[in-house]
Amino acid sequence: MVTRDDVLKALEGVQDPELGGNVVELGMISHVRVDGSTVDVGLALTVAECPLRNQIEGDTLRRVRAMPGVDDVNLHTTAMTKKQRAGLMSVARRKVRENAEPTQVSPITRVIAVSSGKGGVGKSSVSVNLAVALARENFKVGLLDADIWGFSTPRMLGADDRLLADDDTRLIHPVEVQGVKLVSTGLIIDSEETALMWRGLMLSKALEQFLQQVSWGALDYLIIDMPPGTGDIQMALTRMLPQAEMIVVTTPQRAAQKVAIRVADMARRSHMPVVGVIENMTGDIFGSGGGAELAEELGVPLIASIPLDSTVVEGGDNGMPVVNHVESAAGRALRQAADKLVTLVPPAELETCTGRIAKLLAALDEGAA
Ligand SMILES: Nc1ncnc2c1ncn2[C@@H]1O[C@H](COP(=O)(O)OP(=O)(O)OP(=O)(O)O)[C@@H](O)[C@H]1O
Ligand SMILES: [Mg+2]
Repeated sequence: MVTRDDVLKALEGVQDPELGGNVVELGMISHVRVDGSTVDVGLALTVAECPLRNQIEGDTLRRVRAMPGVDDVNLHTTAMTKKQRAGLMSVARRKVRENAEPTQVSPITRVIAVSSGKGGVGKSSVSVNLAVALARENFKVGLLDADIWGFSTPRMLGADDRLLADDDTRLIHPVEVQGVKLVSTGLIIDSEETALMWRGLMLSKALEQFLQQVSWGALDYLIIDMPPGTGDIQMALTRMLPQAEMIVVTTPQRAAQKVAIRVADMARRSHMPVVGVIENMTGDIFGSGGGAELAEELGVPLIASIPLDSTVVEGGDNGMPVVNHVESAAGRALRQAADKLVTLVPPAELETCTGRIAKLLAALDEGAA
């Protein structure tokens, strides 16, 4: 059974990009009613006709729909009263003052964790290719290799620079490669000996460090290449980046679906919505259709089916991701996957209502006078 508290917890993942807070803490959720598997949510926007409306409404719906046990969501959007707006602005101001951002990832960056139930299904290949495809479309993209032990993104991107820290800020600069800001333990380790040392040090803290001590800058998308299976990394991610969403990669065999469902299930229990499924290695040997089945079972879209294609392996080995390859069928499918992702999870729009804050402040001062 879903409870009102569960819904509110899930809604903490919805950010108002302009006010820099989640809709719950900003007092934008006017009511939550749960009736069996139907949830009613009241969303009070500062200004009803604001262009950010679609984005906030879409995020709210996605978050609640992704919850286990929820079949229907009714969203009622209203405009705030003057008094409500004043309350919201004081919360927003306090937040700015406290500047309590616990990570270096902007709360409005779209965070996409690429996960799977088991190893070797192509998470890293998909992550790297999505990141490069998005960068090719001029989005600002980061790629975080959360596979601390089994990193493979540096090789796949042909990155051989090392991570360096800024002398003043002490923050680590990501390595820029093929338009993507990359961070991976593979960019730290020089020898087997240091590797062992790092492993001991980083085991529990690597993800935290990568989120807190890397100067990611203003990103549209942060793609996270997850280690295989469920576990600590995923828990840490949900805790630190409430806006994170998940793509589940699966192979076409039916046997793969069960494990994939387990990951999706875990994601949902920690309020991480599943954006969709990517079926990888579709072809004669493995058959096809498993991805569509999984998507259907999870109630999410099948983002793409990537054919089994040797150019993916070559691209990974040469540091030249296959999305760059015009002729390759897999490259094309991956470019389409990136486009679909942009449609499903559009980058946060910032400029559209820049005047809004000024207007609100003016209204607030008027009210105070
Ligand atoms: N569509 C594809 N066609 C052919 N080979 C592929 C395809 N996708 C991935 N591969 C190959 O399969 C192998 C595993 O892929 P990858 O490393 O991306 O999987 P992974 O899920 O990240 O694995 P791990 O769980 O070990 O992190 C790699 O050699 C990769 O080149
Ligand atoms: Mg991998």
